[in-house]
Amino acid sequence: MAENILQAHWNTPVLPKPGFLWGVSTSSFQIEGAAHMEGRGDSIWDTYCRQQGHVKNGDTGDVACDHYHRYAEDVALMRDLGVGAYRFSISWPRVLPKGHGAVNEPGLDFYDRLVDTLLAAGIEPWICLYHWDLPQALDDLGGWQSRDIAGWFADYAALVARRYGDRVKRFATFNEPCVFTLFGYGLGWNAPAIADRAAMYRAIHHVNLSHGAAIDVLRASVPNASLGAIHNRQPCLPCGPSQEDADATQRFSAYWNDAFPYPQHFACYPPALAEVMEPYQKPGDMALIARPVDWFGLNHYSPHYIKADTNPLGATFGAPPDDVPRTAVGWPIVPGAFRDTLLDIHRRFGLLIYVLENGTANDDELDGAGRIEDTGRIAYLQAYTSAMQEAISAGADVRGYFVWSLLDNFEWASGYSQRFGLVYVDFATQKRIPKASARWYADLIATKRRDAIAARG
Ligand code: FCB
Repeated sequence: MAENILQAHWNTPVLPKPGFLWGVSTSSFQIEGAAHMEGRGDSIWDTYCRQQGHVKNGDTGDVACDHYHRYAEDVALMRDLGVGAYRFSISWPRVLPKGHGAVNEPGLDFYDRLVDTLLAAGIEPWICLYHWDLPQALDDLGGWQSRDIAGWFADYAALVARRYGDRVKRFATFNEPCVFTLFGYGLGWNAPAIADRAAMYRAIHHVNLSHGAAIDVLRASVPNASLGAIHNRQPCLPCGPSQEDADATQRFSAYWNDAFPYPQHFACYPPALAEVMEPYQKPGDMALIARPVDWFGLNHYSPHYIKADTNPLGATFGAPPDDVPRTAVGWPIVPGAFRDTLLDIHRRFGLLIYVLENGTANDDELDGAGRIEDTGRIAYLQAYTSAMQEAISAGADVRGYFVWSLLDNFEWASGYSQRFGLVYVDFATQKRIPKASARWYADLIATKRRDAIAARG
């Protein structure tokens, strides 16, 4: 079945518009390492990794891909791919070890070097301010549960804007706010391991306030800034025919898909959350949150199959039907859901769309010749980029596509057990080996570039 579905998409031509941006994405905690070097403060993920039983095999981000020291080699890998853009995140505790107050110059210098190396390689830097590594010192003060964080986040955004805004124009405020608030505060599956409904609601609202505050700061300080936030959106389907599963799916979807885009774009919480979010709001909050942005950032991997549960959300992930193909780590492969999601975003929000994460984990192993023939990943990417093309043909204004991820890296609670990279990382030696999918992606980008030049005559 998997083969049939993928085959159906295999021959669809992939022909986005000229000027379309092909890129790759990473995040600070997942690749940088150098966790205790040159003044970096702890993040909540450092703490979480140290607490026994949280991360598979007791893995930590202490070394990760050692990108902090190997960034030049990693930019060279990107140049070999031919990508036009690279999305990375700044480690808040690397530049502000306590989250606010004194800055850490060596940390700021690191991103200067990275930005300059990218620009010299002709790759546009895209900075995401927050990819889940909250300074531990701020968590000690209440973290996302404290309303004060909107001010701390705005000050951090101002620092980043002042330092890099002369060379960087693309900024995202948050990566996947629904994931880190649900997993971190609602269900306790991720840092900071809180499982409490009220904590989650508080975090949701304060993240939304912080988004609006940072957009204002970036807009005021970066000439020609191009700004947005990065959301997951995916269809949520009930696992079974029961009314309980149907209700759980509706609740989950309102939370997952709408708790952030609605206030940020429509100045209200979605109807299913309006009442529960009421206690955390002050008059005028929605005007502070719903600041104009330039694009909608989408991360999408698969649809969700949802069932009722006794957890604080009353809903959790369940198994897809048997006939739905899955990746090596069990994520459903449904390219049509990606197409539908892009079209849905287009209709609802009417913004330019950048796909800022899509990709798959694969059982990647070196073969006898020292190569990684990750045909599963190539088939997945082929199917999903084809589905994106279908959405573009049907009117969705998609302007870029970024693969998650450049490198195999620290996959949160799964540690190093899940490999999402186009480039294999041997974590014992830090050797990088581009996989077959890296060659496939480089070919795709080169072909599209040639097509674009030909189309211009
Ligand atoms: C997304 C995260 C990213 C990575 C991929 C596999 O949800 O944004 O950091 O973990 O999933």
